[in-house]
Amino acid sequence: MKRIAIFTSGGDAPGMNAAIRAAVRTAKFHGIETYGIMNGYQGMIEGRISKMDTGAVANILQRGGTVLKTARSEEFRTKDGRQTAYNNLKELGIEGCVAIGGNGTYTGAHIFSQEHNMPFIGIPGTIDNDIYGTNFSIGFDTAINTAIEAIDKIRDTADSHNRLFFIEVMGRHSGYIALYTGIGSGAGNIFLPEEENSIEHLMEQLEKSAKRNKLFNLVIVAEGNKNGGAIEIAEKVNAINQSYDSRVTIIGHLQRGGSPTCNDRVLASRLGNSAVDALRAGKRDLAVGIMDNKIKFTPFDEAISKENTLNEELIRMAEILAL
Ligand code: F6P
Repeated sequence: MKRIAIFTSGGDAPGMNAAIRAAVRTAKFHGIETYGIMNGYQGMIEGRISKMDTGAVANILQRGGTVLKTARSEEFRTKDGRQTAYNNLKELGIEGCVAIGGNGTYTGAHIFSQEHNMPFIGIPGTIDNDIYGTNFSIGFDTAINTAIEAIDKIRDTADSHNRLFFIEVMGRHSGYIALYTGIGSGAGNIFLPEEENSIEHLMEQLEKSAKRNKLFNLVIVAEGNKNGGAIEIAEKVNAINQSYDSRVTIIGHLQRGGSPTCNDRVLASRLGNSAVDALRAGKRDLAVGIMDNKIKFTPFDEAISKENTLNEELIRMAEILAL
C-alpha cells in the first residue's frame, strides 16, 4: 500500500485531530502517503483531496473540532455520487481510506466498499458514545468533562438559592452523556432516552428530598428523553407543583468543542495508529475500537446494526446513590 486517504464525517468530536495526526504519522513511518479529504463524503465527491505531510498535522493534537472539517452529504447517498467519489480516489491512486465518525459514517463506508474495490477502516468519533464495538468513542470523555464543569457551577448557585435545576445534555438516542454526568455530578434524577422515566416518579423523589430538607436539586435530562427536553420537563413539573423555584440550562454545543482530554488524545492516537496498521495488513470493511483496553475490530455491518447499550448496573447505582 502506497497511498491512503483520511476524512472526518458527521458531528465533530474533540480528539478527531489527534486521530488524524496519528494516522498520518503512522502511515509516514511505514512509507505510505496520506491524503486528507475535506468535508467528509461531500469533499470526496467534489475532489477536495490533498496531500498531508507530517507538518500538516503538527500542533493539532490538542485542538478540538476537526482540521479536515465535516459535512453531511446527500449526494453520497446516490450511486452516481459514490461513483464520482470513487473516480476521484482512483485518479489519485488512493488504495484505502480511514473514516472517522459515527454510525452514518460507517454506513456510508460499508455501502461504498461493497460497490467499489476500496478498503475502509472506521474510527469511532462522536461525543455520544453510541457506537457498537468500542467501550468509548473519541470525544465522549471530553464532552462529559466539559458538561461536569458546567454542572458543578450550576450546583453552586442552585444550592445558594435552594433551586431546582433541569440541565439538558446532548444525546438524541443515547443516554451515555446523561448517565455519566448524572453520576459524576451527584444529580438527584437522570432522564435517559432509553428509559421510561415518569414525571410522577420525579415528583415523588422531589417531595422525599424536600422532607429530608434537601431544598436544591439537579435533574439531568438527555435531549432525547421521551418526556421531552429540559424545558418541557420543567414545564410539566411546574404545572403539577408551582412551589419549586426552578430554572433550566441547556449545555448544548459547548459539549462538542474544546481541547480534548488526555484520555481522548490517547484513545484517538491508538485508534488512528491501529487503523493504518489494519489497512497495511489488508483488512477492510471494519471498525476499530477499544474493548477492555485492547484494540478490537468489528465488521461494519455488525457495528452499524448493534447498539452500544447502557450499563444497567450504572443506572441502578445512580438511583441508589441519589437516595
Ligand atoms: O451526534 C452528536 C450530537 O452532538 C448529538 O448529541 C446531538 O443530538 C447532535 O449531534 C446535534 O447535531 P447538530 O450539531 O447537527 O445540531
